[in-house]
Amino acid sequence: MLKDRFNRTIKYLRISVTDRCNLSCCYCLVHKEFVKIPREEILSFEEITEIVRNAAELGITKVRLTGGEPLCRKNIEKLIYNIRQIDAIKELVLTTNGVLLKKYAKKLKDAGLDRVNISLDTIDPVLYKQITGSANLNDVLEGIEAAKSVGLKPIKINCVVLLFISDGDREKLKDFCVKNGLELQLIKHMDLTKGNYSREYSGNYDRPPKCSGCNKIRLTADGKIYPCLFSSSFISIKNERSIKEAILKAVSLKEEEGSVFPHMAMASIGG
Ligand code: 5AD
Repeated sequence: MLKDRFNRTIKYLRISVTDRCNLSCCYCLVHKEFVKIPREEILSFEEITEIVRNAAELGITKVRLTGGEPLCRKNIEKLIYNIRQIDAIKELVLTTNGVLLKKYAKKLKDAGLDRVNISLDTIDPVLYKQITGSANLNDVLEGIEAAKSVGLKPIKINCVVLLFISDGDREKLKDFCVKNGLELQLIKHMDLTKGNYSREYSGNYDRPPKCSGCNKIRLTADGKIYPCLFSSSFISIKNERSIKEAILKAVSLKEEEGSVFPHMAMASIGG
């Protein structure tokens, strides 16, 4: 079992498979100077699988693939298939904006994915386009249908609670979720325009979860392990003697509570 200094069991690895995304959501890409990871530094599927294998040997049992937008990574189903072969990984899930899901749902399911979380902040097509820059709500709705029909369930909907969206609008999203058997998760908006933001528990949100129950570490597409989204420290796997040593070091860096998030755009670490 993988334990941190505060006796929390770490069993969840969240992997950003790419920092690229097909949307440009207002709250995500606020850093216009956002630098993309050079292509040659992006981990291959073989490297990611090897990291997951090592993580599983240390006690990781749940993996989430995220981005950027994970469906922007070519042949992502091959990575899913590879990870599915690792017996100790009991839960394999993916977070997507859903725009490409109609096309990929069956491939993902066939490769062994358990379920998906879909980011959707409004059910109003005009607002949706405003938030995302350019996307069509209908593509996401079709993606949700496809995920349901191939059995990528239960489907959770991630809704970032934005000030300029009314409670009435969120009620409509809630109704839509109830009607369609989707589980709605309200996410606290973390305002990156302030440079850094603190981790507080005000309001009625499902995410982020309480630090006391944290069981997670994060891997970026260029092979860095972050102990926490709200921390500036990380371990670069390539600088360590082994993958296992990198994971153990990252776990040992976990603080009791997250503080601020100064290091990179949300876009590249995957929310
Ligand atoms: N604040 C809160 N949630 C965010 N996400 C992306 N950026 C932010 C932010 N600034 C969410 C996405 C997605 C999840 C992975 O992270 O909407 O659902």
